[in-house]
Amino acid sequence: MSSARAIINLDLPGPTISRHLYGHFAEHLGRCIYGGFWVGEDSEIPNEGGIRLDVVQALRALEIPNLRWPGGCFADDYHWRDGIGPRDQRPRMVNSHWGDVVEDNSFGSHEFLALCELLGAEPYVNGNVGSGTVREMGEWVEYLTRADDSPMASLRRTNGRDEPWRVPYFGIGNEPWGCGGNMRAEAYADLARQYATYVRNHGGNEVYRIAAGAHDDDVAWTRALMEALTPFGTPLARPGVFQGVSLHYYTTAGPWTDKGSATLFDDDDYWRTMAASRRIESILGAHMSVMDTYDPERLVGLVLDEWGTWWDVEPGTNPGFLYQQNTLRDALVASVHFDVFHAAAERLVMANIAQTVNVLQAMILTDPDSGALVLTPTYHVFAMNAGHQDATRLEAHLLAPDLVRRVAEEDVPTVSVSASSKDGAVLVSASNLDLTASVELTLDLRGGRLADLTGLVLTADRVDTSNDVDRPDAVAPQPLEVVVDGGVVRVDVPPHSFVTVRGTLA
Ligand code: AHR
Repeated sequence: MSSARAIINLDLPGPTISRHLYGHFAEHLGRCIYGGFWVGEDSEIPNEGGIRLDVVQALRALEIPNLRWPGGCFADDYHWRDGIGPRDQRPRMVNSHWGDVVEDNSFGSHEFLALCELLGAEPYVNGNVGSGTVREMGEWVEYLTRADDSPMASLRRTNGRDEPWRVPYFGIGNEPWGCGGNMRAEAYADLARQYATYVRNHGGNEVYRIAAGAHDDDVAWTRALMEALTPFGTPLARPGVFQGVSLHYYTTAGPWTDKGSATLFDDDDYWRTMAASRRIESILGAHMSVMDTYDPERLVGLVLDEWGTWWDVEPGTNPGFLYQQNTLRDALVASVHFDVFHAAAERLVMANIAQTVNVLQAMILTDPDSGALVLTPTYHVFAMNAGHQDATRLEAHLLAPDLVRRVAEEDVPTVSVSASSKDGAVLVSASNLDLTASVELTLDLRGGRLADLTGLVLTADRVDTSNDVDRPDAVAPQPLEVVVDGGVVRVDVPPHSFVTVRGTLA
């Protein structure tokens, strides 16, 4: 058994951890929309207007704050007018990025906004820069958000929706350096200014415009976007034409050509994954430091609108559908990311896991034949961490100098912790990445006392354990013993586990 101590100052509040750090992403990709969220009104699966109610219920329990749609790469191929009006008259298109399948557009703007209403989530609509026009983007926003009898508002009414929707987040293209148009940074930065100009605030709908950002450590792209907001090195003094800058970072166990299996991995694969996962800290740090140079007041938000694990697809499934299983390893990738997100809360305003159902690091997997639904280990991390949403970060200093694992050239800390308080309740999260040793974790609480302490642990005998239809709860939270000894709280954090401790301020 190893030991670690986390000093948590209950009376030193930090910034608010935006609930939007627990955001989601749903693309027209594989079985995320079709079969995942949408089964159509005639399905035997219980649905409301075609939207699966079991999926809605499971996600409502996570209090998901926002949902990004329709892509991803798909967004820059998507023409919103094809997805409105009677479903049997909607034009078809080829989804060339994802499986080269024919998309019938039966899930469009009205269906997406109805889904957000059912989920109680805020919509984040991603517009088309790569193959769309400025006018098309401007009219989409008018269609969705305008109240009067303007041409687009009237068209929306023709299609059965009187009241405008609230659309607080709008993306200006996606990955323009690749699938979104193969552009150079400065060329896209100018387009971002132009397109964002026409994403207007109609009535009371104030839009947070998100310029499509870099991937990984491409800070030159972020610099180009910041230059476009505030040229000539003048620090940004007021919000610019776009308010957020995005970033994408995926975790793999190897290079893109050899990402590895979701379920069949050895210890080396596991540690390479954990090293890649921890890298999110330096990657966020690098982009935030570029943003600080141009925008010391932090008027521009960093939006990590795609993150998560990306493995080889499950054998026998369509390679373009990105369907992968999800094990306890994925759960630990998520828990480590969240600790880093909390630490970056001053600048990081949103993060969206890719993707919610049936694609990449999903919360929910649905069986294509029986329709049965399975909650993944990652789902449980989101559930156990839900109390951090809109909570005040508490500084948690971890003293565990020896708890590192050397992976290639990197030292990977094997314990990770974060803490927050909200409405008189304190939530502490901790991950132990070690594959064999438990950690006796002491919570050294200063500046206050906690009562009514309870704990949860997410683990399994093996780190490659997953949930499926036959064993839906192989990885599910269990009660964890919390020992209170004077002012000190102690928990045993098992190998490869994620734990939470909750208490109320006494
Ligand atoms: O999430 C899958 C894809 O990954 C998205 O469509 C794209 O933006 C990224 O490359």
